[in-house]
Amino acid sequence: MDIPPFHVLEVVRAAQALEATGRRVLHLEVGQPSTPAPALARQAAADVLQRDLLGYTTANGIEALRRRIARHYGERHDVDVDPGRIVLTAGASGGFVLAFLAAFEHGERVAVTEPGYPCYRNTLLAFDRVPVGVPVGSETRFQPTPALLDAVAAGRGDRLAGLVVASPSNPTGSALRADELAALAGWCSQRSVRLVADEIYHGIAFGSAPPTALSVSDEAIVLNSFSKYFSMTGWRLGWMVVPPALVGPVDRLAANLFICPSVLSQHAALAAFEATDELEGHVHRYAENRRIVLDGLAAAGITEVAPADGAFYAYADVHHLGATSTELCRRWLDELGVAATPGIDFDPVRGERFVRFCYAGAAEDLREAMGLLRSWVAENQFRSPAPGS
Ligand SMILES: Cc1ncc(COP(=O)(O)O)c(C=O)c1O
Repeated sequence: MDIPPFHVLEVVRAAQALEATGRRVLHLEVGQPSTPAPALARQAAADVLQRDLLGYTTANGIEALRRRIARHYGERHDVDVDPGRIVLTAGASGGFVLAFLAAFEHGERVAVTEPGYPCYRNTLLAFDRVPVGVPVGSETRFQPTPALLDAVAAGRGDRLAGLVVASPSNPTGSALRADELAALAGWCSQRSVRLVADEIYHGIAFGSAPPTALSVSDEAIVLNSFSKYFSMTGWRLGWMVVPPALVGPVDRLAANLFICPSVLSQHAALAAFEATDELEGHVHRYAENRRIVLDGLAAAGITEVAPADGAFYAYADVHHLGATSTELCRRWLDELGVAATPGIDFDPVRGERFVRFCYAGAAEDLREAMGLLRSWVAENQFRSPAPGS
């Protein structure tokens, strides 16, 4: 099976190879928190290790955690969710497998944004579902709209069976407002298109909190995770909220494919919900980091940046620098020790114009990286724009 690579991991490999030679690398490539799981979660894990057998749970996870997640929707979004619709998964990534298998048939077409998180497209391909790119740009704040979907639906082949949205999105950080999300949900429901909403960056927002798709649709599949806001990437735990008709199919798939998600992580995650002070502290730090990176990019003459409403990314148009983003990222790593991710990972068509900078790291590293970029741009002023840009 020929599945495209997740390019960012190749940048990580190149950065690690450089570090192995003794060079210092400033990491703005991988999209993960630079903090451990909350202290309460780690303590809960240590406690449960001592007292519990940690055998299998039901496929959808422990009831206490599903109830706690349901309560979270009530508290944060004023939405009532039946814990019976919640399924714990091996990260949001595990949720994609279940969602794409349960909701779509072989050969069905599913719209994904370009730019967007590459694993939607690659996971759909792995299961013989057909990703259909919806080009989004600054005109629509890097989010899809009904008009863009009409154009895609009219343009090519059979009807769409699904639409994947992410708010806040990776790589851009842009978020959908309530009216925009409602318009997309309405467009989907009128056409029996299944809306899949990736809400993994919920909790990390710098203005008003983005709404959940559950507030505008009972038919959406919502994905979330403990990896980002909860700072628990390696614990491999996420969740999905599925519409009633898909509870049975998802449960059977989950049982057959995975038996159950990590039980140690489920106990830790339950405690993570009580770590609000620590977690909100991370969000404050991301807000400060965001300012450092946006100001730093502007000082380097990189001013076309997608609306960074949430998550911890700046997705910047760099085509005026006269090279492809793959080439720029390679040179920045070699010459400056600054690792960033070329946009080609997120957008197979226009990605060579863009670079994604992750600002989840330490503020002093980000300041240093921005200073290095600024000098580099000043010294390399500049040839003609890259071909095809
Ligand atoms: C938009 C988006 N969805 C899903 C994932 C996968 O997350 P998880 O660690 O929960 O599998 C990521 C990871 O970076 C992401 O950025």
